[in-house]
Amino acid sequence: MSPDRRIRIAPSILAADFAALGAECRAVEDQGADWVHLDVMDGHFVPNLTFGPAVCRALRRHIRTVMDVHLMIAPVDPFIDAFAAAGADLITVHLEAGPHLHRTLQAIRAAGKKAGLALNPATPAEAAAEVIDLVDLVCVMTVNPGFGGQAFIASQLPKIARLRALIGDRPVLVQVDGGITPATAPAVAAAGADVLVAGSSVFASGSPDNPLAYGRNIAAIRSAAEAARGAAPA
Ligand code: DX5
Ligand code: ZN
Repeated sequence: MSPDRRIRIAPSILAADFAALGAECRAVEDQGADWVHLDVMDGHFVPNLTFGPAVCRALRRHIRTVMDVHLMIAPVDPFIDAFAAAGADLITVHLEAGPHLHRTLQAIRAAGKKAGLALNPATPAEAAAEVIDLVDLVCVMTVNPGFGGQAFIASQLPKIARLRALIGDRPVLVQVDGGITPATAPAVAAAGADVLVAGSSVFASGSPDNPLAYGRNIAAIRSAAEAARGAAPA
């Protein structure tokens, strides 16, 4: 396995203590998180509201790894520059969020950021084909976006494998988001996922004052995924 295909764990702070987000970001990074995943929701594209670019900007100085911003908003184009200015490393948009996806992805790269494309459970892998050279990551939603703590949708597993085949040897990562636990991580890793977003299963136990539990939760997901890929544990 080439080094750039190693498993990355991206805790979603959707499941963190919103009154202590900076400390939560530092705690999961100290405990082994590879990226930090920020879920932006607008109450329109998805039936929930979280936070916007001001909170992302405030969290930037608490994140030393990769600030992974998952935009569940429509329209998205008017906000790309704001999230870029907030310090996102990667900006992921939904294919279903607007009619001009090609333009949106170009705008993310024009802002100097890596571009991600998220696919809802009902959207086929093949829908990414025409823009695959415009993205750095494709996110397979393994729940319907909007809430943490939902059940993993196993029908997405063959889609992950089809997406991996479609990507071929391009430098594009496959991310999975939703319902990832030590029990579901092996199947997504075996299907070809590189970046595992996990909210509830990371933050279920532990706190910034008791961060070792975060470390155990992250390690459990990582070792389950790596074992399924046949890779040596880190
Ligand atoms: C759902 C979000 C996910 C969510 C995952 O819309 O995109 O990132 O936080 O949460 P869990 O891991 O609890 O399914
Ligand atoms: Zn997400």
